[in-house]
Amino acid sequence: MANKKVITVFGATGAQGGSVARAILENKNFAVRALIRDVTRPNAQVLRDLGAEVVKGDLNDEASVETALKGAYGAFVVTNFWDDFSKEKEVCQGKLVADAAKRLGLKHVVYSGLENVKRLSHGKVEVPHFDGKGEVEEHFWAIGVPMTSVRVAAYFENFLTAWKPVKADDGDYYTLVLPMGDVPMHGISVTDVGAAVCSIFNSPEEFIGQAVGLSAEALTIQQYADVLSKSLGKEVRDAKITPEAYEKLGIPAAKEVANMCRFYQMKPDRDVELTHRLNPKVKSFSQFISENQEALKGM
Ligand SMILES: NC(=O)c1ccc[n+]([C@@H]2O[C@H](COP(=O)([O-])OP(=O)(O)OC[C@H]3O[C@@H](n4cnc5c(N)ncnc54)[C@H](OP(=O)(O)O)[C@@H]3O)[C@@H](O)[C@H]2O)c1
Repeated sequence: MANKKVITVFGATGAQGGSVARAILENKNFAVRALIRDVTRPNAQVLRDLGAEVVKGDLNDEASVETALKGAYGAFVVTNFWDDFSKEKEVCQGKLVADAAKRLGLKHVVYSGLENVKRLSHGKVEVPHFDGKGEVEEHFWAIGVPMTSVRVAAYFENFLTAWKPVKADDGDYYTLVLPMGDVPMHGISVTDVGAAVCSIFNSPEEFIGQAVGLSAEALTIQQYADVLSKSLGKEVRDAKITPEAYEKLGIPAAKEVANMCRFYQMKPDRDVELTHRLNPKVKSFSQFISENQEALKGM
């Protein structure tokens, strides 16, 4: 550990950062320093047991970010829009890390970014949890930090939680309610992101300055439904909802998700082939569901 280059990992107690920290530790080319808000929590100890150095810090506290980055070769940076539903806060946190990485001369940052949809659509579509990350990507590149942006497709895990099949009112079947029309939607298990990011850290010359869209595969909502039907033995159908109807469902983040799907229908770049090269073990949706059937047992 002592003579290995250090990668500071943000969000290591969460889904993306946790996947990245584990993959880097398993790969053993770099040491991991995890910045964590509460270092007394059991998940901080889990990371220590896996071999990570754990340091206390907060993305809203510049001094702690600077301390966590000092002496590091690189960093994996993820911010969580959904903590406060605030684009401004997410942009502030992302830029704070970018500026500190620049001051300290980090050699390679992998940032979990997404497109600035508002800018790309000339203001017609706003997806705040994308737009803020897009602004941060632009900032990283503008100030000259050697950075790779990974634009992660929708997590397959969402199908076990917010997007799980909904029981129909008018019959013995379930529906998937996502306004994608017939356009395939890219997806990936967040547990497979880490190995892909680790490969990117192992090939800086190929990936610095690039945006990489990570996706295991792209399926239509009916194809996602077919996989679920086969695996669960219950009929699941695409609800065939429009973005306009989705917005009126009165569920949390309805407008945000409707606009995200409007953007997905414009087919942003996600590179399935490259993702499989970066992580040859990346799971298909079918494999993911068969490994996670337990989570949908109550259906
Ligand atoms: N869901 C999807 O399909 C999808 C797809 C692509 C991108 N994304 C993006 O992924 C991001 C969320 O990442 P995730 O799924 O890994 O979330 P997560 O599992 O909820 O983890 C969030 C992590 O961020 C840490 N964190 C939050 N606020 C912090 C702060 N102020 N200082 C330091 N650490 C802080 C949390 O630490 P604690 O343990 O202290 O809470 C936790 O480790 C979102 O911005 C979302 O837009 C999601």
